[in-house]
Amino acid sequence: MTNFDQPIERIGSNSVKWDTILTMYNEDDLLPLWIADMDFRAPTDVLSAYQALLTHGVLGYTDIPQDLYTAIIRWERERHHLDLKKKEILFFSGVLAGITTAIQPFTKPEEAILIHDPVYPPFATIITNNKRKLVRSQLNEKDGRFVMDLADIEEKFKRYQIKVMILCNPHNPGGRVWTKDELQRLGELCKKYAVLVLSDEIHQDLIFPPHEMTSFFCAGTDFSDFSLQFTSMTKTFNLAGIKNSYALIKNDTLRKQLLAKQEENFQQEINTFGLIGMAAAYKTGDTWLAELLPYLQANITYTVKFFHEHLPKVKIMQPEGTYLMWLDFSAYGLSDEELEQSLIHKGKVVLNPGVSYGPSGKQHMRLNIACPQAILAEGLQRIVTVLSE
Ligand SMILES: Cc1ncc(COP(=O)(O)O)c(C=O)c1O
Repeated sequence: MTNFDQPIERIGSNSVKWDTILTMYNEDDLLPLWIADMDFRAPTDVLSAYQALLTHGVLGYTDIPQDLYTAIIRWERERHHLDLKKKEILFFSGVLAGITTAIQPFTKPEEAILIHDPVYPPFATIITNNKRKLVRSQLNEKDGRFVMDLADIEEKFKRYQIKVMILCNPHNPGGRVWTKDELQRLGELCKKYAVLVLSDEIHQDLIFPPHEMTSFFCAGTDFSDFSLQFTSMTKTFNLAGIKNSYALIKNDTLRKQLLAKQEENFQQEINTFGLIGMAAAYKTGDTWLAELLPYLQANITYTVKFFHEHLPKVKIMQPEGTYLMWLDFSAYGLSDEELEQSLIHKGKVVLNPGVSYGPSGKQHMRLNIACPQAILAEGLQRIVTVLSE
């Protein structure tokens, strides 16, 4: 049984989560509950696979192992009902690298790409860095969870002649696990307006019952004709630093276009550590994941209860998946700057500012609960200290 309560010292390991903030904010003793990695060791079998590699000691160019394809095909079939062929899997050094590569052949500069508001910030960065037009459709809040505004999406498809939509499925930061019905209705609209969907499914394995993950391909019989999925095991098994991912593309024409762009950018070679880690995680990680999910759920329950008891003015979105929580601090009337600065400099606790996820993220913060519960409890207590002043 994995002991997720075990604290692990990460300071001094060049951790983005723990180390960079110390210089960024010029403070000691900051407690990071931000960026999406977990403060847990990777599964032992993954670490053993790395140890075997290091014992052998030769780190030359590595071919993509056949057993990696087999492991991905098994995982995606058993957990996500996908029926994949080897040729439909393309490796990238990260989901963002894959999505960035994809927008290049499928849109021209100045053409419009639609994303939600709020959504994972790099989507907007990728679009603007590539000189495409950024269009957002705001998510509405209904019964404490985000819902898509299909009328607004349709209006924007028409008005901006949207070519591509980048979908976050499940949704970061709201933790929504979009239902089959929601995805079906979105997909039908995309089909009607010939919008290609790039579905980012990196959080696909972090789903809490009774919610069920629906891969975009599975939401409609022909949806894989106009969509590509991008995913990885790096969130699932806390391997974000290996920067490895894969795209799933069933449509031959789309796949050829993406492959050509990947080769044009010479991105087709994948580092050895990524290949070894991915294969080991998918082959051996079922038990670890089965232990992780209840731990994350317990942390979410703890957090909800804590806010209800100590800071009932904070509105919490209960995640259906992911280890991220979207918190609404608007009742305190602080500006985004005041909220962020007081949490950092008075509370010494770091969350992701909501405004970075889009204009509707004003006065919100994103909280990462994937750490030993004692650390989470300390972080939440620091938030209380700031807000009860
Ligand atoms: C929705 C989403 N997509 C992509 C990423 C980053 O993936 P990668 O490191 O593989 O580029 C993250 C990381 O937090 C994420 O939440």
